[in-house]
Parts: sequence; C-alpha cells; structure tokens
Amino acid sequence: MEIVAQTDIGNVREVNQDYVLYHKKNEHECLAVLCDGMGGHNAGEIASSLACQDIIKFYQLHDEFKSEEEIQTWMSEVIVITSGKGGVGKTTICGMLIEYLCEKKQGPVLAVDADANSNLNEVLGVEVEETLGDIREDIARAEMASQQVIPTGMTKADYAEMRFSDALTEADDYDLLVMGRTQGKGCYCFVNGLLTSQVSKYAKNYRYIVVDNEAGLEHLSRGVLPQVDTILLVSDCSRRGVQAAGRLSEMIVDLKLGAKEVGLIINRAPNGELNPGVQAEIDKYGMKLIGVVPHDDTVYQYDAEGKPSVTVPKDSPVKQAVRKIFDQLTL
Ligand SMILES: Nc1ncnc2c1ncn2[C@@H]1O[C@H](COP(=O)(O)OP(=O)(O)OP(=O)(O)O)[C@@H](O)[C@H]1O
Ligand SMILES: [Mg+2]
Repeated sequence: MEIVAQTDIGNVREVNQDYVLYHKKNEHECLAVLCDGMGGHNAGEIASSLACQDIIKFYQLHDEFKSEEEIQTWMSEVIVITSGKGGVGKTTICGMLIEYLCEKKQGPVLAVDADANSNLNEVLGVEVEETLGDIREDIARAEMASQQVIPTGMTKADYAEMRFSDALTEADDYDLLVMGRTQGKGCYCFVNGLLTSQVSKYAKNYRYIVVDNEAGLEHLSRGVLPQVDTILLVSDCSRRGVQAAGRLSEMIVDLKLGAKEVGLIINRAPNGELNPGVQAEIDKYGMKLIGVVPHDDTVYQYDAEGKPSVTVPKDSPVKQAVRKIFDQLTL
C-alpha cells in the first residue's frame, strides 16, 4: 500500500494551512486524514494539524476494523447525557443539544431515549406512537393469540424486525428512538437487548447519536451502545448531586469506555453562580466542569404548562448558557 498526498498553497495565502497525516495499522488497514485550514484564519495550520493528530490518535486506540459498517459507526459521534441522581435536568439539556445540532445543520441526528421512564419526546415536542417496549409486548401477544396475527409466509424474526423499525419516529431534522419498557419480570434486560441491536443497526446512518440516559451507568456498563465518544454528566448544584456525579466519573474511568470527553454540567444554579462549597466538591473528584446553567423560571413554566422545553426563547438564560457549553465542545 502506498500513500501519496499533495496540497497547494494557492494564490492568496502566505502559509499553507493544509495538513495531512496517516497511520498504517497493518498491511490492509490505514487511515489518512487531510484537513484544510479554517478559511485562512490565523493559526489555521495549527488547527488543521491538531485535528489530524487527534483523529489519528483515536484511530490508533481502536482495534482492527472488521467491516465497513464498523468504520462508519466509528465515524459517528455518540454523546451520552447522564447523572448520578434523577431530576437534575438531563432530558432538558439533551433536548437542547439535539436542537442545537439540528440548527447548526450538523445532522443527521439520532436521538435515543434510553430511559425506561421516557419523556424526551415531550421536551422535544414530538408524538411517539410506539416504543421498543410496546412493540415487544405486541409481538409477545401476537405469538400467544389464537388468531394468526403474523402474516403468513413471514417468519417470527422477520415480523419482529419489521415491527421494531416502527419504533423510529421521524421528526423534521432528526429521528427519535424510544426504548420504553415492558411489563413483567426480566423484561428490562430484554428491552436493553433490543435497544442494543436497534442502535447498532442504525448507528452508521447518523453523524450524531445523542442518548438521554437514565441516572447511572447501567447502559454503558452493559455495552448497550456501540461506542461512547462524549459523556455529559449533569448535576444540580447540591453537594450530594455533585458527589453522585463524582462517583460516576470514577466508575467511568474504571469501565474504560474510551470516551474522548467527560464533562460536568451544573444545572439550575441560582443566578448561574456556583457556590464555593460545590466547586470544592467538584475539585475533590477531579471532574472537568464544562459549564454552569442557571435556574430559569421559563423552563419550569413551560414544563408546568406542558410546552416543549426546547421552545423556550433563544435569549432565555438557559438557552444562552447551554449554547456556550455546546460551542466549546466543538461538535
Ligand atoms: N435550568 C433549569 N431551570 C429551571 N427548571 C429546569 C432547568 N432544567 C431543568 N428544569 C426542570 O427540572 C425538571 C427536571 O428536569 P429533567 O426532566 O430534564 O431532569 P432529568 O434529569 O431528565 O430527570 P429524570 O432523572 O427523571 O429523567 C423539569 O421540570 C425541568 O423542566
Ligand atoms: Mg430524564
């Protein structure tokens, strides 16, 4: 395998801001990355070299790819939003991140509601007809029914496959997959398994996969997601909230999930300010604080009136704060 690259400075610039880097993993696998500068902005050559180095670094960490699909999935960015305790604003922030990516035309985006107590659709303002859990129950009923429900000539597996694809709700700018839940014993594991297979089936088609996780790391520790690139830990501004997030951040290290970025967002801070005691707790756990979101009565009011939280005005303090955080993440 031979690798050749050539770039040209062009007629206008004084410095060639393009950068090329490659890494040959073995005889049949190599990644070559070419980045051009940022439209001639200052230090564009540094930005393009850093981008190349980062991509190559993560490529080196990855085992050999087994299929083209695996490569496509690797190229998508999986962002998981979770917390140590419930009710801290995960779903609200997740909804705003999805809106942010769609507004920046960063799609296609797959939004995944991985909380058995699903409500991401309410924050986004979309109707969901069926969850994976609902469909699983339907199939179980169809198998038990005295009348034939599964069309003749169709295997049970094909029928299930067809039905599970109904759980993908198509909104204007993104698709939403809702896990939901099923009744009865042991079914939690079953929907977990369904979520794993559906997400891995779809992953390659999306540039971003944004997951509203339930509190804790259950899905991550069970390997429900094909990969995790960014983990956003959300906490309220209480010491106990931060301690719970701190314990998760320690577990994330132990689990060796391979995330490039693990950041903490403190939500609902009075006047958007962090209390020194809470800051000390964050430092104690060595967490990376990536932003503080103020408590915003508009969000609370929209929620109380059943209006989608993502539709709060753009100039509301919460929207401005989350935008600043997402901008820094360079998504
Ligand atoms: N910055 C904010 N200002 C005011 N209210 C907020 C803010 N963020 C979230 N809320 C409100 O707090 C409540 C909980 O938020 P949300 O449902 O997003 O939390 P969660 O962490 O997803 O909860 P759960 O653990 O139950 O999934 C909601 O009523 C939401 O509208
Ligand atoms: Mg939630």
